[in-house]
Amino acid sequence: MTEVAKGGLSLSGLTKNFGNFVAVDNVDLEIRRGEFLTLLGPSGSGKTTLLMMIAGFLDISAGDILLDGTSIREVPADKRNFGMVFQGYALFPHMTVRQNVGYALDVRGRPKAEIKARVDEMLDLVQLQDFGHRKPGQLSGGQQQRVALARALSFAPPVLLLDEPLGALDKKLRIEVQAQLKEIHRRVGTTFIYVTHDQEEALSMSDRIVIMQNGRVEQLGTPTELYERPRTRFAAGFLGKSNFLIEGGATYTLRPEKIDLAPKGHINGAARLTGTIRSITYLGSMRKYMINVEGRDDIEVDVDSWRNPHELNEGQQVDLGWSDQAAVKLDED
Ligand SMILES: Nc1ncnc2c1ncn2[C@@H]1O[C@H](COP(=O)(O)OP(=O)(O)O)[C@@H](O)[C@H]1O
Ligand SMILES: [Mg+2]
Repeated sequence: MTEVAKGGLSLSGLTKNFGNFVAVDNVDLEIRRGEFLTLLGPSGSGKTTLLMMIAGFLDISAGDILLDGTSIREVPADKRNFGMVFQGYALFPHMTVRQNVGYALDVRGRPKAEIKARVDEMLDLVQLQDFGHRKPGQLSGGQQQRVALARALSFAPPVLLLDEPLGALDKKLRIEVQAQLKEIHRRVGTTFIYVTHDQEEALSMSDRIVIMQNGRVEQLGTPTELYERPRTRFAAGFLGKSNFLIEGGATYTLRPEKIDLAPKGHINGAARLTGTIRSITYLGSMRKYMINVEGRDDIEVDVDSWRNPHELNEGQQVDLGWSDQAAVKLDED
């Protein structure tokens, strides 16, 4: 079903001003054909504004957007032919699932037989073959999102834009729909640009992630690259948890699960630091230890619960150890 041989986007100097306020600030970004790219950042970091410019719903203040090498700056939204799944972009409540999915093709005047075949294919893709005659109100939230996805993919867009599409779903359902979405991406091969503020969602689905802050690209990379080699404090703290250590004037980031913890004098290898357990929090799969170390911020250590070899108690003195590779030097603060 890989039917899309286009969909590479190139953003250059892309900027959006609202009066004096710069919501998107000089963004350069190459989005590869067929990739699952996620814009990840806190609320207000400019994710939606960036997506709206790509969609053509917002004018560009400066810069350009190229689709497969051609500027689409002057192309209106409906002529860009991008698929969209937005939270506020609801299904038509009075239409059946089939009518919703076929709507865009109907509007484009495609022949009835073609629409029927395509709707069947799309319902198959999102595994809603038996729900075609229901109305959206008769579906669960997760099913409605799959209909929205089928509708957005019905006309084989080169690019699909998704803005926090799973935001309204509860955690368990969200994880289920994430996996389905990822599988659908594999099958259709369309370029997906996905907006979220949820780091786990970004890590689990994306080929690459753009971390955004204050309208700028903070760091771009694969989930592994960003998690293992964050360049800034913000990137290290926003994607996963991080301790920051200042050594010789340079700041290092150290993930809580990469620290070994043992009673004082019992660590394998050399102790890097010695401290006192301030608190222990049991979180099911792991325990979170906050360690007070003289002259430093508290250090968080996460240990798999089942792996806890020693009986450690609050107030106890402990040694902390880690490998050289575990501490990653940041480019800047
Ligand atoms: N139409 C607008 N007028 C003025 N400011 C806006 C407008 N739309 C967005 N903003 C501001 O731009 C910033 C980025 O917003 P947005 O792109 O919605 O962020 P995100 O999607 O990352 O939460 C926010 O500070 C927001 O208040
Ligand atoms: Mg937003």
